[in-house]
Amino acid sequence: MSAEQDSVFVRNFALVIAGLVGVTILLIVIANSMFGDEDPARQELAEERAAANLERPFAVRLSGEPAPAIASAEDSADAGGVTEVRSGEQVTQAVCIACHQGNFLNAPGIGDTEGWSARIDKGWETLTINVVNGYGNMPAQGGAASEEEIRAAIEWMIEDQSGLEIPES
Ligand code: HEC
Repeated sequence: MSAEQDSVFVRNFALVIAGLVGVTILLIVIANSMFGDEDPARQELAEERAAANLERPFAVRLSGEPAPAIASAEDSADAGGVTEVRSGEQVTQAVCIACHQGNFLNAPGIGDTEGWSARIDKGWETLTINVVNGYGNMPAQGGAASEEEIRAAIEWMIEDQSGLEIPES
């Protein structure tokens, strides 16, 4: 390659780079004029979204705090919704059966009189709370069903299927 060819190449290369720098600056200027943070409405929206992103999707309840409201069919009906409360059998088939059939993680089986009789003395309230918040090997079920539905599922899974009777507590 001759010295002349070298200098032509260097000149062309410098022109291309200069052109690219020019295009970059132009794009930055256009982007700034379109999406600058000057707009207060845009700023407000961004802040709102950031706050929503920081909200916890679930809450850890410290003792003493009131229980968070779980969406119930009544609330939903008040709000004009059409949510139906599922029956105990439906909830069991949809949610609980994954473990309570086949003794997964040693979960007592549906209608397992022996397995349940050791637990039901805790009474309705404790059993319901344990299912909502989780207990031992059972993760919290509160996200999968409302408290009302969980009660119905307990009733179906234990009382209806085994003949045992859970005492009030
Ligand atoms: C991921 C598996 C899993 C799912 C899903 C599950 N359970 Fe359980 N459940 C368990 C296990 C395991 C235990 C035994 C926990 C222990 O004693 O360590 C248990 C225990 C229980 C108990 C007894 C709690 C106590 O205080 O002794 C009840 C009642 C119960 N489950 C009801 C339900 C209902 C109702 C559902 C559905 C809404 C459900 N479970 C869904 C695994 C599960």
